[in-house]
Amino acid sequence: MDLRDRSGISQIVSDPIRTPASYEAAGDLRNEYVVKITGRVTKRPDDSLNPRLPTGEVEIYADQVELLNAVRKQLPFQVSISETESVREDLRLRYRYLDLRRERMSQNLQLRHQVIKAIRRFLEDDQAFIEIETPILTRSTPEGARDYLVPSRVNPSEFYALPQSPQLFKQLLMVSGFDRYYQIARCFRDEDLRADRQPEFTQLDMEMSFMSQEEILALNEALVCHVFKQVKGIDLPTPFPRLTYAEAMERYGSDKPDTRYGLELVDVSDLMQDSGFKVFSGAVASGGIVKVLPIPGGNEAVSNVRIKPGGDLFREASEAGAKGLAYIRVREDGDIDTIGAIKDNLTEAQKQELLSRTGAQPGYLLLFGAGDAPTVNKTLDRLRQVVARELDLIDPEKINLLWITEFPMFEWNADEKRLEALHHPFTAPFPEDADDLKTARAQAYDLVFNGFEVGGGSLRIYQPEMQKQVFEAIGLSDEEAQNKFGFLLEAFEFGTPPHGGIAYGLDRWVMLLAGEESIRDAIAFPKTQQARCLLTSAPSEVDSKQLKELHISTVSKPKT
Ligand code: AMO
Repeated sequence: MDLRDRSGISQIVSDPIRTPASYEAAGDLRNEYVVKITGRVTKRPDDSLNPRLPTGEVEIYADQVELLNAVRKQLPFQVSISETESVREDLRLRYRYLDLRRERMSQNLQLRHQVIKAIRRFLEDDQAFIEIETPILTRSTPEGARDYLVPSRVNPSEFYALPQSPQLFKQLLMVSGFDRYYQIARCFRDEDLRADRQPEFTQLDMEMSFMSQEEILALNEALVCHVFKQVKGIDLPTPFPRLTYAEAMERYGSDKPDTRYGLELVDVSDLMQDSGFKVFSGAVASGGIVKVLPIPGGNEAVSNVRIKPGGDLFREASEAGAKGLAYIRVREDGDIDTIGAIKDNLTEAQKQELLSRTGAQPGYLLLFGAGDAPTVNKTLDRLRQVVARELDLIDPEKINLLWITEFPMFEWNADEKRLEALHHPFTAPFPEDADDLKTARAQAYDLVFNGFEVGGGSLRIYQPEMQKQVFEAIGLSDEEAQNKFGFLLEAFEFGTPPHGGIAYGLDRWVMLLAGEESIRDAIAFPKTQQARCLLTSAPSEVDSKQLKELHISTVSKPKT
């Protein structure tokens, strides 16, 4: 039989001649029973060596087999299954403790532990960081998502918020002089869930005083390299490549581009503004852009049906907000073929210029986005990712780490008709941009790992005058600022060192290092897309007595 513990599997042998005492007991054992084996490790006979198992050269002759506990219910799924078999995720989550017995999940959690251990060793032992815990019951922090609220029993009608991040506390710790802080911090955000988001997740949160952006990035590269070396045995080259936000948007249409493959976008707005194709010239005339995603081999690989209404690529584009999806095929003979209007409305010179700018060769497909810049970028970013997967352009062995820098300070919130801090309102602008904050670049940086944002941070504002200007820019009155962040602004009056920091999404790191596609596979007890825990059935109704004590009454019945 196979005996499993968290380190793997060993083969146990019991036979009537060599180990008669254990033979009968062994015959009564079934899958997932808990047993105690006493025996001798011996080399396996040559014909039963198993090179696929780390323990494949040995086996244990069981002198004694003792049943410690049996399985008393039918197992909801087989724990020991091959890699190719799968179990429904709702069952896995309902019986998570059994799911975690499976080798893959057990290894993911052990990897998570190794990552955290490597982080702690590096930050504490090499870099003199100290870990400080910050409150879980707190005021809301301005991270931009919805808060989880906790009613206060002793303060009727008042609520704590669970932290979206320890942002304000870590800045206060800098005021206190703890110039190198870190925390493995649980964060809570009530936002729409995706494959790489959870309502409660874990950050590696860091803050440092008296360090420039360059020093912070260098220290963080050393940290990331240390983790890769310890956990994966991989030496990463440094410095990590960098792209400014503007470059990333220009070339990839995204601030978290996957640069393991090319497929770069090309802006052709200037060329198309004079074209007779109204969709393009009109987009530019109304302040928008026209961009192209050139796809080598796309002429053959991607059929018209897929690009036209009803097709999957068309659907991707329209989900990103595009109204249409124009394209050009470059035939093998170099002739170009389009959906009617583009071709007829481009001069020969414009066609040639288009081909040369986009580097299009025979066999290429060019997909176009035209309209306002955010929609065009979003559309072509999505299409770029779909096409890369489909054309098998992504090398799964590649590790691509990339800093995105020079984010804008603000973005326009069209719903609320006001500027909004892109990162958070404590991010410092570049000093040379400070005269016009509305267009200023922020001293902020994100770390992108194979197309996922795995970390982000910034240098902070530490002078009250600048903080005031930023609040003004986002339309926060003095009174509102005092009300929300008065305690922080007051603290900054008592001598605040220049400081900055970063936070990493630890679950995302582990997901990517484990080669998983869902963040749930990197977390012991995750929630579903509906923010439910299937194991404990949270959230749940509570006693009316509890609600009364909390001075809460509910207006709608929960769905069951
Ligand atoms: P930010 O909001 O960018 O920055 O978060 C930092 C990192 O946390 C991860 N992350 C998430 N992971 C899983 N589920 C979620 N719902 C989720 N939301 C974010 C991402 C992200 O890069 N206080 C600032 C950091 C700072 O300025 O120091 C902050 O929280 O990987």
